[in-house]
Amino acid sequence: MASVPSLASSVEQRVSDALASALPEAGAADPLLRRSDRADFQANGILALAKKAKANPRELATTVVEAIPTGDLIKEIEVSGPGFLNITVSDEAIVKTLAARAADDRLGVPLSPSAGTTVIDYAQPNVAKEMHVGHLRSAVIGAAMVEILEFTGEKVVRRHHIGDWGTQFGMLIQYLLEHPHELDHKGGEGEASGEEAMSNLNRLYKASRALFDSDEEFKTRARARVVDLQAGDPETLALWQRFVDESKIYFYSVFNKLDMDIQDPDVVGESGYNDMLVETCKLLEESGVAVRSNGALCVFFDEYKGPDGNPTPLIVQKSDGGFGYAATDLSAIRDRVGNLNADTLIYVVDARQSLHFKMVFETARRAGWLNDEVKAVQLAFGTVLGKDGKPFKTREGETVRLVDLLDEAVERATSVVREKAEKVGLTEAEIVENGQYVGIGAVKYADLSTSAARDYKFDLDQMVSLNGDTSVYLQYAYARIRSIMRNAGDRHPAAHPELELAPAERALGLYLDGFGELVAEAAAEYAPHKLAAYLYQLSSLYTTFYADCPVLKADTPEQVENRLFLCDLTARTLSKGMALLGIRTPEKL
Ligand code: ARG
Repeated sequence: MASVPSLASSVEQRVSDALASALPEAGAADPLLRRSDRADFQANGILALAKKAKANPRELATTVVEAIPTGDLIKEIEVSGPGFLNITVSDEAIVKTLAARAADDRLGVPLSPSAGTTVIDYAQPNVAKEMHVGHLRSAVIGAAMVEILEFTGEKVVRRHHIGDWGTQFGMLIQYLLEHPHELDHKGGEGEASGEEAMSNLNRLYKASRALFDSDEEFKTRARARVVDLQAGDPETLALWQRFVDESKIYFYSVFNKLDMDIQDPDVVGESGYNDMLVETCKLLEESGVAVRSNGALCVFFDEYKGPDGNPTPLIVQKSDGGFGYAATDLSAIRDRVGNLNADTLIYVVDARQSLHFKMVFETARRAGWLNDEVKAVQLAFGTVLGKDGKPFKTREGETVRLVDLLDEAVERATSVVREKAEKVGLTEAEIVENGQYVGIGAVKYADLSTSAARDYKFDLDQMVSLNGDTSVYLQYAYARIRSIMRNAGDRHPAAHPELELAPAERALGLYLDGFGELVAEAAAEYAPHKLAAYLYQLSSLYTTFYADCPVLKADTPEQVENRLFLCDLTARTLSKGMALLGIRTPEKL
């Protein structure tokens, strides 16, 4: 693996480079360097290389050891087992490398050499419907991926594919037409609050549904209204727009609560592709990718069969001429690839929609819209479960409203913050602000710390606990460092590579060294949970360091400075990493 050695490259990268150049077939071989318990690193690559060259692995390992100069970088290198290399690096190399990274705004995190354009489809609630925990996952995971990818240099286009089209609007619009003041704001002047907007929409939804189910004549009028909507009748469209606008007020209020910045131009819902649908179908039919079956336009797959053994097609156009979810998604692919020039499409969507996306992606490949240069992935997420391990529901068996969850999390977090507030010297305003940062951080972290594909239990007690793998634990580690920095007075962080490091300092230093590689890995694998795990481990190592190594009371002024330097870089790494996950790090907690 070729790499440009720079001051900001990691110790691990430098060791890897040194090994590669000592290997007989330098460049071609990856030394497979891993962190190790027995030394700092272990290289396992010799085994495979020896096998390929039909050489004795231990002998080959010995040749490499002899070819590697020890000194500045590598303190000790020895052959172990069948041909592994155990490598210990010098304290000096650790501190020097970290100092170079600390001098960089990006903390030495390299830009990706293969950056391209990614469109991320995330945070996609549905118009006139309440947001629930499923929408939480898409928003939180998607936002983290946006930040992580952008940090690696990727150009990211956000797309909030809201559910703003479909036959349900016939019923809603018809009802509003017959009850014109139902969406008026009670407060009179100005905009409605998110809560008010949603309660209006809810009331209207329930009332129109009830009428639709009980009144045949209303049902007929509602169905005719769908036709008007699809035909683009101006009056009908204007009413539809009111539903969308009212819903957006609500969505933005929830995203705001989530401390998430959603921009209006990025909200391109299902309706945004309306004028592409006919052409999408035409292209699919003309190329033979889709065929007419009982009047409907369908794409068939050998591998997807229903319970009866008959193939389940993807229906692009229904026999009555209506377009559904698939036609919209296929048109969105054409737009994202053709107009936005994406080479990667990511869909942060519930795993229960996996079959839909498999069929849509396969259809797009057959049509040539996706190919070797343009890939699409569903970043599928699992279900949020209640404490009982069943899909999260209220006691009455209803889906849990996202706002209620967020409010409760903030409430709990605020009382956790309040308990320590006096000791830390927080004002009431700071308690309230930190309560939000801790509460929302807790919810996001709980979601991001398990791999997306897995289900997880929504357990607020656990989420705001100060011990264990929680965001508050990380936030406290950060605040503790910041408090040391405030108490340091005129003593400032400064790297002293000449000093010998204590074991806890080495462990912390080497772990800090891995930040850049970790970010690249989380970006390449679309795995924000790896970043969460890294930050947790970093905080734990910091806790050990803090217990073992006095900072302001260290033996010599140089040692104080060097430890302040480690503290500072830890704080900056924590803060940057948490920001990538969308979590704030208050200065005092
Ligand atoms: N609105 C959908 C839902 O709430 C999610 C949309 C996912 N994105 C897409 N391109 N289909 O389930």
